[in-house]
Amino acid sequence: MPQPMAETRPLRLGVLGCADIAWRRTLPALADVAGLTLTAVASRSAERARRFADRFGCAAVTGYQRLLDRDDVDVVYLPLPVALHGHWVERALSGGRHVLVEKPLAATAAEALRLSGLAASAGLVLRENFTFLHHPQHATVMDLISGGEIGELRAFTGAFGIPPLPGTDIRYRADLGGGALLDVGVYPLRAAQYFLGSTLDVLGSALHTAPTYDVDTSGDVLLRSGEGVCAHLSFGFRHGYRSAYEIWGSAGRIVVERAYAPPPRYRPRIRIEQQDRVERLTLPAADQFAETLRAFVAAVRGEPERGPAPGGRPVAREQLVHASLIDAIRASARGGARDSGAVRAPAPG
Ligand SMILES: NC(=O)c1ccc[n+]([C@@H]2O[C@H](COP(=O)([O-])OP(=O)(O)OC[C@H]3O[C@@H](n4cnc5c(N)ncnc54)[C@H](OP(=O)(O)O)[C@@H]3O)[C@@H](O)[C@H]2O)c1
Repeated sequence: MPQPMAETRPLRLGVLGCADIAWRRTLPALADVAGLTLTAVASRSAERARRFADRFGCAAVTGYQRLLDRDDVDVVYLPLPVALHGHWVERALSGGRHVLVEKPLAATAAEALRLSGLAASAGLVLRENFTFLHHPQHATVMDLISGGEIGELRAFTGAFGIPPLPGTDIRYRADLGGGALLDVGVYPLRAAQYFLGSTLDVLGSALHTAPTYDVDTSGDVLLRSGEGVCAHLSFGFRHGYRSAYEIWGSAGRIVVERAYAPPPRYRPRIRIEQQDRVERLTLPAADQFAETLRAFVAAVRGEPERGPAPGGRPVAREQLVHASLIDAIRASARGGARDSGAVRAPAPG
């Protein structure tokens, strides 16, 4: 169990799993985050743990539980395949650790609700690592919309597609919680939730499994907000790269072309199109992984939360709404929409 922490001491971070995303983005971002220090990384393989530990300057641990048994870990980052989140989030929470878990929190709403309940009853923070929500470019878009730049909202379209991955990738493994909806589809889904609010109905969805695959490899979803604004989402694993959204209003539209995974040095460009003019805003670069880690530290410290839920919507609830929408999309793809006209994500809690 971790020791009680002095308010000023940096939170000591342990990592469960030597994942690619930890190597490329999350752990390099730590250098720019005050109040968080890496103490240990755990892998199923001693060699992988050593490779990470050598690069990032921390202890190497073989076996996830061994990391949780240490007394120098206050918070845990969990970049494991989705199907393993439930088990290891529960273990980390029951050891008294706050948890930052890779997106999506869980493959089903029931599992997300169970884990959120465990965190809430233990008084611990459980955050889903949707880093794009912390990039300031989306708050800028929200400000433009609130300022009336494109009038009343009429439609949202969002797309995230990537070229095929090596056949051994976790995303192609049904037993590990793979599939395009959980891996890439959740990004435009979360973006629709961010801009249109959390009262969304799933009007219809199609999940496609390409021959020889065990998981959904692409999909399309139609949503409708409480105000009657529709969102069309497209996503997949066998696509030319696209990572975008567009918001169309009564007086123009806003287009964001590098929406979900911009590199830390990339200066985002936002295009605003109106009847007689096109304006391009170039924004400062930001590292959304560092921003997410800062927000996680703030949440653990009990400071006001920034980023992932505009308008003061509680982050923990937004995570549950998202998981409910994933369920509703699957139900609709199985034929639920034909019976009922719309599949409403049940209100969490
Ligand atoms: N936030 C983002 O922008 C972002 C971007 C990409 C991915 N992700 C998420 O991050 C997670 C990891 O993705 P990734 O691309 O980094 O995948 P990855 O490189 O395959 O990493 C997954 C890690 O899980 C561990 N693991 C435990 N049991 C495993 C098993 N049976 N098979 C395979 N790996 C197992 C492995 O760590 P050890 O071998 O060291 O134990 C492995 O390194 C996913 O949930 C994904 O959705 C998030």
